[in-house]
Amino acid sequence: MKAVIVFPGKIGVEVRDVDIRESLEKGQVKIKSLFTGICGTDRGIVNGKITFAYPQKGLDFLILGHEGLGRVEEVGEGVKTLKKGDYVVPVVRRGCGVCLNCKLGRQDFCETGKFVEAGIRGKNGFMREEFIDEEIWLVKVPGSLKDFAVLTEPLSNVVKTIDELLFVQKRMVWTCEDSTFGCRNAVIIGSGPIGIFFSMLLSTLDFNTYIVNKRDPYPTEAYVAEKIGATFINSSKERDKIPEVDLIVDTSGYPSAFIPLMSKMKHNSVLVLFGTVEGEKAEITSDLITSVVEKNILIFGSVNASKRDFEEALRYLSIWKDRYPDILEKMITSKVPVEKAPEVLLRKPIGEIKTVIQW
Ligand code: BGC
Ligand code: ZN
Repeated sequence: MKAVIVFPGKIGVEVRDVDIRESLEKGQVKIKSLFTGICGTDRGIVNGKITFAYPQKGLDFLILGHEGLGRVEEVGEGVKTLKKGDYVVPVVRRGCGVCLNCKLGRQDFCETGKFVEAGIRGKNGFMREEFIDEEIWLVKVPGSLKDFAVLTEPLSNVVKTIDELLFVQKRMVWTCEDSTFGCRNAVIIGSGPIGIFFSMLLSTLDFNTYIVNKRDPYPTEAYVAEKIGATFINSSKERDKIPEVDLIVDTSGYPSAFIPLMSKMKHNSVLVLFGTVEGEKAEITSDLITSVVEKNILIFGSVNASKRDFEEALRYLSIWKDRYPDILEKMITSKVPVEKAPEVLLRKPIGEIKTVIQW
């Protein structure tokens, strides 16, 4: 079958006919791929910037892809919740089987670090014509969402992060006089799909949402920002428009992007680190530490998501499909055949929000 593969440690990507023999076992489901999304992690693996990728046991290559959407072709013995024709999104991370979080389905909080992640670490991914997976790690997608459900995985990570945020902020009263978050300002650094999803989710929760980038918005970004009621700020020319903040979400990974904004952080505010890059160095001053301490500022990092976050992501997609009919459609900026995968993996198309492979 056709698959998009990499040799971790080597730069580059290939489309190949691979001979993966998987037989349908008890509790397993055979899935035909419909779409696979491409993200910064995939590009990091392809261009050698991400060094934690490694192949599945016994193989020297890794099938890429962790943002899947497919249709059930066949179910194995004992499968109860899925049938042929159902749409499904697979969960990315599979637990270590040892720590309690993994045993309870919270492998996104694995404590041993011995998990695998499809298309990333130690497990073949979903950029292939078909795959077999466990029923338990498949999230059923309502047919009405099939055109956008390839966005479920990236959104699941955002849902999980906001879940953590609202949990840790219960350390005091963070809601406003009217019990909502309408008095809180959130600044999201970066306007890729993750930045946009943070903005959409926080706007949906009533936050005053600002999207910051160091350039003007691309037309789709400007359109989305306007529709969801967020303000897009070009920090290289209108930095003074950035308000005092209750929440900063950095999706860029560049300390030079978020450290200067930390002077805007209010008492009891939160800085969430979501993006990662390599190689940038930045100075942290003791003044900054003093302000973090004196203002009860909380800083946390977040990665990955559990099945329940995928399910919540689907609920948000369904709300947004009604509320902003054309936004989800616009977020998928191009659909390419698998033959073009190397091209779009090696170089991000200009104006891209989400490029997907159509099978
Ligand atoms: C994926 C996560 C994964 C992470 C690893 C992201 O692109 O969406 O599921 O845990 O990469 O860094
Ligand atoms: Zn990803």
